[in-house]
Amino acid sequence: MLTTLSISINQVARSRRDEVDFQNLVFGRTFSDHMLMAEFRDGQWQNVSIRPYGPLSFSPALMGLHYGQSIFEGMKAYRTIANQVVLFRPEENARRLNRSAQRMCMPELPEEIFIEGLRQLVALDKEWVPEAEGAALYLRPLMFASDEYVGLRPSENYTFLVMASPVAAYYAEPVRVKIETHYVRASPGGTGAAKTAGNYAASMHPARLAQQEGYHQLIWTDALTHQFVEEAGTMNVMFKIGGKIITAPTGDTILAGITRKSILQLARAWGYPLEERPLAVAEVIEAAQNTQLEEAFGVGTAAMISPIALIGYEGQHYPLAPLQKDSFALRAKQYLIDLCKGREADTFGWLTEV
Ligand code: COI
Repeated sequence: MLTTLSISINQVARSRRDEVDFQNLVFGRTFSDHMLMAEFRDGQWQNVSIRPYGPLSFSPALMGLHYGQSIFEGMKAYRTIANQVVLFRPEENARRLNRSAQRMCMPELPEEIFIEGLRQLVALDKEWVPEAEGAALYLRPLMFASDEYVGLRPSENYTFLVMASPVAAYYAEPVRVKIETHYVRASPGGTGAAKTAGNYAASMHPARLAQQEGYHQLIWTDALTHQFVEEAGTMNVMFKIGGKIITAPTGDTILAGITRKSILQLARAWGYPLEERPLAVAEVIEAAQNTQLEEAFGVGTAAMISPIALIGYEGQHYPLAPLQKDSFALRAKQYLIDLCKGREADTFGWLTEV
């Protein structure tokens, strides 16, 4: 923990806010006026600053580019109906960033820099937090190795930054997913639980093949047998089968989603039977065939709660009935929207006011 944190602030002369069409936001394309930045040098984090959002200049030998020591987070700030701005569980992101850092042999970031830096960034760019239902200011903390060196060893210098992007929903419609049985996202002992760039890079080729077949996304299976459901890369996945909500347990192959954790807390509080256990693909397919598969949905920060409309497996399509308003997934989604809009009391203590 730092004893004093001073953040130098260099404000833009003129905001770009009025140039943005907030009615037609595309996920991750528009960035707010400022970004947060800090540097790790000589064994400590220093030079914490907020500066105009814009290009960085660095050497072609930047280690993060060559060897992938690069980790990130995804989180959101919301505007309530009372015009307050709130962050959703930022301390969870701070902790997960540091778990990723540990796995990727990178320095941990003091939670104070993360939380206070974000708070000040969002306060400065609060006009960028959208008002519309379900829209948010998506925050993207990023840490990468910044040594100028191409020998293979952990970098000694790192850059941390946070950019902010006003966004609407990530998936505009219920998603068509394919259960992947050839390619692998993560294996035991690997980096699957870390939010590191390489996990996402490795998913792109298999995801593109699935998109060419008409799917939006993959559901990954375990690397050793391809018989158990893991996660979808952009989100964790949950199923409601015969009245029970079932999801795979997190471990070293599945990202510990913060939305996932919140939805499980909600399910418990609302008294739904819940099982966190290895879930066989065969069980999902059998349930889809005999109408026991009541709900299937993805949960994530960007995706929020995204209903699954169709599952593809070994060349067969298993369509799912559209979710009803009283389904668990849509109740949970509405609860989260209402909470972040300030229409629900924050009984779980998930919100931090900016
Ligand atoms: C998030 O949900 O924040 C993510 O990081 C997923 C990303 C692929 C958009």
